Amino acid sequence: MADSAPDGPRILVLHGPNLNMLGTREPGIYGTTTLEDINSELVQVAKENGADLEFFQSNHEGGLIDRIQEAPSWADGILINPGGLTHTSVSLRDALVASQLPVVEVHLSNVFAREGFRRHSFVSGIARGVVSGFGATSYRLGLLALLDALGA
Ligand code: DQA
Repeated sequence: MADSAPDGPRILVLHGPNLNMLGTREPGIYGTTTLEDINSELVQVAKENGADLEFFQSNHEGGLIDRIQEAPSWADGILINPGGLTHTSVSLRDALVASQLPVVEVHLSNVFAREGFRRHSFVSGIARGVVSGFGATSYRLGLLALLDALGA
């Protein structure tokens, strides 16, 4: 957990498959910002808003689902970039719904301006909102929107 106000909102930040490769992965699409850079920026935003963050990245659908299943015991909301699972995973969506936590979906790239198969998301329909296309700023905006939705 990042340090901040003890009673602030607690957010689970999930990064899906291949997002550990940010920095070198298709920089023309995803830029050169690393996942550590993104997480550091989010810690800063969290500190400014008295929130606590826990980060988890996995290339495995089941690992992400396990974290989502544990989240209701401690978290107030979920910020997620599901990566490619956005477009394929009913199970991830089901886990998010079952958590009953508010979810904000973020994407570095504008998924609507890319291949047709990226235009459909299994997550968007159950998310409070979606931020897509602003690089690392998508995460920042998504976190602020989630904290706002939580009344933080
Ligand atoms: C992504 C978009 C997805 O379509 C892709 O599979 C990713 C990254 C994004 O952040 O732009 O892995 O979620």
